[in-house]
Amino acid sequence: MPHPWIAQRMSRIDSSGIRRVFDLAAQLTDPVNLSIGQPDFPVPEPIKQAAVEAIRQDRNGYSVTQGIAPLLERLREQVAREYPQHADRQVFVTSGTSGALLLALMVLVDPGDEVVVMDPYFVMYPALVSLAGGKVVLVDTYPDFRLRPERLQAAITPRTKVILFNSPCNPTGHVADEEEVQAVAQLAREHGLALISDEIYRQFCYDQPFVSPARFYEQTLVVDGYSKAYAVTGWRLGFAHGPSEVIQEMLKLQQYSFVCAPHPLQWGILAAEQVDMSPQVEAYRRKRDLIHQGLADLYPMPKPQGAFYAFVQLPPGTTGQQFVEEAVKEQLLVIPGGIFSSRDTHIRISYAASDETIRRGIDILRRLHRRLAAT
Ligand SMILES: Cc1ncc(COP(=O)(O)O)c(C=O)c1O
Repeated sequence: MPHPWIAQRMSRIDSSGIRRVFDLAAQLTDPVNLSIGQPDFPVPEPIKQAAVEAIRQDRNGYSVTQGIAPLLERLREQVAREYPQHADRQVFVTSGTSGALLLALMVLVDPGDEVVVMDPYFVMYPALVSLAGGKVVLVDTYPDFRLRPERLQAAITPRTKVILFNSPCNPTGHVADEEEVQAVAQLAREHGLALISDEIYRQFCYDQPFVSPARFYEQTLVVDGYSKAYAVTGWRLGFAHGPSEVIQEMLKLQQYSFVCAPHPLQWGILAAEQVDMSPQVEAYRRKRDLIHQGLADLYPMPKPQGAFYAFVQLPPGTTGQQFVEEAVKEQLLVIPGGIFSSRDTHIRISYAASDETIRRGIDILRRLHRRLAAT
């Protein structure tokens, strides 16, 4: 029985899977950790310096809700350059991409509305949709994680309100090409649906350029952030841009919830303009190759094209949960696919780690596979 004070909406949010992984992780003192969803490179020095300066200069109070003027100006320029034809597009600074997602779903979803999400999905999506009172409708993208327009079309009902789209994808590493993105945009437009595009990994595309559905559907609501691109996951800085009326409602809710994104850190991230992150992205491309070359013969996977994850298939009959428990005995930490999906047939491997850790991880994964195949 839950505590009598707890609201019913909390019973619709299940975090037991993640908790089990955390419990397993807590048993290890020095794991080979391929479970982490954040970059392993340090925050570039100019960005750190600018944040320290802002704190020293007493920029520690609230900022205006929409974000400090110079950062907003930067974002407006960026958005206008990318979408010069979108006269109605507005932008503001959020408390991380998570903050933007929460605001977006609270603003767009009424109780009973359906939100279409591709499976596998980022863990937060079902929880946030439930919090807003919505119902998640999953669209299967196995085995190659490409979006099939006919499957998306089949998931749309008269109750559908939102399509929630994420490319490059956490957990699969799939980067949607122009054809897939155009199909999502077109279906959203045809059915008059809100389309949320989570673009937090857009800098991490290794084989092909990033394509946003906003290019094909001007009503697309984009949520994005600095966490992954600059390794500032703890800073809680993101932004959202989309149709002005939706943005105004999100701002209203931000005023009464987050209030503003962390103020001194908004000054800090202004220095991002001075840094070139292409060496870090290049290093992650090599890590992607390392993982793919090291495992693809044993663990079927489409070659990951973006973000910093590989989502690999386990031998038939082994669930992600069982596999992760075995892996922990070998000091290896990966995440069971069931956390991100209605199936538990895969694991997510993060290669945001040192080459040495990745190599040790590959050795353990190969050993585990041999052992499973022998039983
Ligand atoms: C797909 C996706 N969206 C959003 C987020 C949240 O990012 P932020 O740190 O900006 O809240 C993450 C973080 O892992 C993510 O993987």
